[in-house]
Amino acid sequence: MKRRILSASPPGAQRGGRYSRDVMHETLLGSGIRVNNVRPMKEGEVLFTREQIAKRVAELGAQISKDFAGQRIILLGVLKGATVFLSDLARNISVETTFDFVGISSYRGTSESSGEVRLTKDVDESVEGRNVILVEDILDTGLTLSYLVKIISAHQPRALRVCTLLDKPARRKVPVRADYIGFEIPDKFVVGYGMDFAEKYRNLEDIRVLPAGAIG
Ligand code: IMP
Ligand code: MG
Repeated sequence: MKRRILSASPPGAQRGGRYSRDVMHETLLGSGIRVNNVRPMKEGEVLFTREQIAKRVAELGAQISKDFAGQRIILLGVLKGATVFLSDLARNISVETTFDFVGISSYRGTSESSGEVRLTKDVDESVEGRNVILVEDILDTGLTLSYLVKIISAHQPRALRVCTLLDKPARRKVPVRADYIGFEIPDKFVVGYGMDFAEKYRNLEDIRVLPAGAIG
């Protein structure tokens, strides 16, 4: 039987709570763009090269190692976008580290902001009393991270920190603050280094702006 950890109610917690989300990706898909019309991407402005990313990820890893010196941490990645970042970040962390992952799904409702965020993959191990670093690719509207922070906090971790590679502050709908931020970016849709458009381009080594021509 599947273990329910975060998706189980912590003792004394209130049930319910629907979370809305407005993801650019879904906005594009929801506006009549068909997934099978995405053309192979040849060009697209490079926002960050693999060298720039590597340098910044090393700095983030060093900072986390310093902040948690002598302690153990769990890197809790948000599937799937954060996987590439997490694997590089982990190799720049010198304290004892384990990995776990959560899956999230969101549903579009009648308006852009009425999607619901739901957990599709729970953590494998309890977070109670542990140092948890939530690792995300992009902090956009903040709805995903605010939902995750809320349900993880309810399970009483020793410490909970948010580490995001990219932050788009201009898109924020709910107040969420990341403790570790790779780069702040303007309101552009980006792909590569784990990030997708319609599940494509995750394997690009650089981070690129999705060119209008990639959506046909
Ligand atoms: P939000 O903060 O809840 O709006 O959602 C953040 C999630 O939306 C990220 O983890 C990505 O999966 C997705 N997302 C937001 N902006 C982008 C983008 O520019 N490229 C790819 N995915 C994005
Ligand atoms: Mg994501």
